[in-house]
Amino acid sequence: MDYAWLSVLLGTVLWPQGAQSLQNGLALTPPMGWLHWERFLCETNCERNPKNCISEQLFMDMADKMVSEGWLDAGYQYLCIDDCWLAPERDEKNRLQADPVRFPGGIKKLADYVHSRGLLLGIYEDVGSKTCEGFPGSQGYYDIDAQTFAEWGVDLLKFDGCYYGTLDKLEDGYRQMSMALNRTGRKIVLSCEWPLYERGIKKINYSEVAEYCNSWRNFGDITDSWGSVKAVMDLSSAVQEEIVPVAGPGSWNDPDMLVIGNFGLSWNQQVTQMALWSIMAAPLMMSNDLRDIPAESKALLQDKNVISINQDPLGAQGYRVFKADYFEVWERPLIKGSLAVAVTNRNEIGGPRNFLLSLSLLWEDRVCQNSCFITQLLPSFQKYGHLNDTSLLSLWINPSGTILLRID
Ligand SMILES: *[C@@H]1O[C@H](CO)[C@@H](O)[C@H](O)[C@H]1NC(C)=O
Ligand SMILES: *[C@@H]1O[C@H](CO)[C@@H](O)[C@H](O)[C@H]1NC(C)=O
Ligand SMILES: *[C@@H]1O[C@H](CO)[C@@H](O)[C@H](O)[C@H]1NC(C)=O
Repeated sequence: MDYAWLSVLLGTVLWPQGAQSLQNGLALTPPMGWLHWERFLCETNCERNPKNCISEQLFMDMADKMVSEGWLDAGYQYLCIDDCWLAPERDEKNRLQADPVRFPGGIKKLADYVHSRGLLLGIYEDVGSKTCEGFPGSQGYYDIDAQTFAEWGVDLLKFDGCYYGTLDKLEDGYRQMSMALNRTGRKIVLSCEWPLYERGIKKINYSEVAEYCNSWRNFGDITDSWGSVKAVMDLSSAVQEEIVPVAGPGSWNDPDMLVIGNFGLSWNQQVTQMALWSIMAAPLMMSNDLRDIPAESKALLQDKNVISINQDPLGAQGYRVFKADYFEVWERPLIKGSLAVAVTNRNEIGGPRNFLLSLSLLWEDRVCQNSCFITQLLPSFQKYGHLNDTSLLSLWINPSGTILLRID
C-alpha cells in the first residue's frame, strides 16, 4: 500500500513549518549511542570504585563492548562522556583539560581509540560559568572550547545549562557555541538543553533552538524508574502541539537516556520505554553497563525492527492520539505512508487487559482504507496480516506494558 499522499496532506498540519534546522548535515536520523550519566553519575573515586569511576578505562571498556557485542552493528555509534571528566581548573592558556589522574592519556588519545573501533566520541560541557557538578563551564570561552574539542577529535557535544546567569546569556551562549563549533570546520553534533532551562519561565522559540542545535532536552533528567518514564510520556504528550512540529532530520526533541538494562524497570516497562522512544523519534542514548546487561534487555535494545521505526528517514515525531480508561494510543507516520502505533496499558494492577483497536482511530481515519498489513514488533514479533479500516484489532496488553505495531 502506498499512502504517500497522506504525508503530503498531513504535512500541512503536523510537519515543520519551514523551520530551519542546524545546517551541519548531521543527525539526519536520531543519534544513537551510549551516555554515562544515568548509570555512572559523578563517581570520581577510582580507588573505591575502580570499574565504575568516570575514567578513560570506563570508556575504553564500553567502546570494546559496543563493537564486540553487536551494539555498533545495531546502530549505536556515539560513545558519550557526561559531566565530571574535567580537571578542576583550565590550563595556563585557558584551555579545558581532562582530569589527569582519571584520564591520563587525555581526551585526544581516547578519541583516537574510539575512532579506531569505528565509533564516534561525545563530550559534555555547559553554557554557564560551571558545569552542573561544579567543573569549569564554557561561558566566556566558547571559541577556545569549540577549538579544543575539534582538535581532540570530538564528534558530539552535550551542552548543559547550569549556572547560566540570565536567560539572555543562556540563549546567547547556545548561539555562540553553535557558531563556534561551525567555525572549527569539524562536524560536531550539538545536543542542547536550552528549552529545559526556559520552560515555565518564558515561551520557548523552538524554531530558533532548531536553528542552532541538533537535539534538545525539554524536561529534567530521567531516572531508573517507571515513574520517570511515565512522566516523560505525560510531559511530552501534554506539549506535543508545541514540540512535535519542530522535529525532523537534524532536529530532535530529546526525552533523555534509555535506562533499559538497569535496575528500575520491569520487562514490560522496558518494552514501553523502547516502543515510546521509537515513536517519539528520540535520540537512543543508552545509559547502562554494557559489561553486565541482561540478555533480554540487550535483545530489546538491539531489535532491528524497532530501531528502524526510531530511525525512519521521514523523521516525523509521533504523538498521542487517544487516552481513556488507562489506555494510551500513540502513532508515528513513517516513510512511504506506513505508520507505527503503540498501545500502552497504564493500569498498574491486575493482569493483561483487552483493547479493541479500531483502525479508524488512526491517522485521522485515513489509514488502511483499502486494507493494509499489520505486524506486531513488541513485546514479540508477530504478523497479523491484512486488515481494513473497518477492522478491530483485539490486543491484550500487560500492566505498564506496550504493544508496538507497524502498519504498511
Ligand atoms: C557551517 O555552516 C554552514 C552554513 O550554515 C554550512 O554550510 C556548513 O556545512 C557548516 N559547517 C560545519 C562544519 O558544520
Ligand atoms: C523565533 O526565532 C526565529 C529565528 O531565529 C525568528 O525569526 C522569530 O522572529 C522568533 N520568534 C519569536 C516569536 O520571537
Ligand atoms: C474489511 O474486512 C472485513 C473483515 O475483517 C470484511 O468483512 C470486509 O468485507 C472488508 N471490507 C473491505 C472493503 O474490504
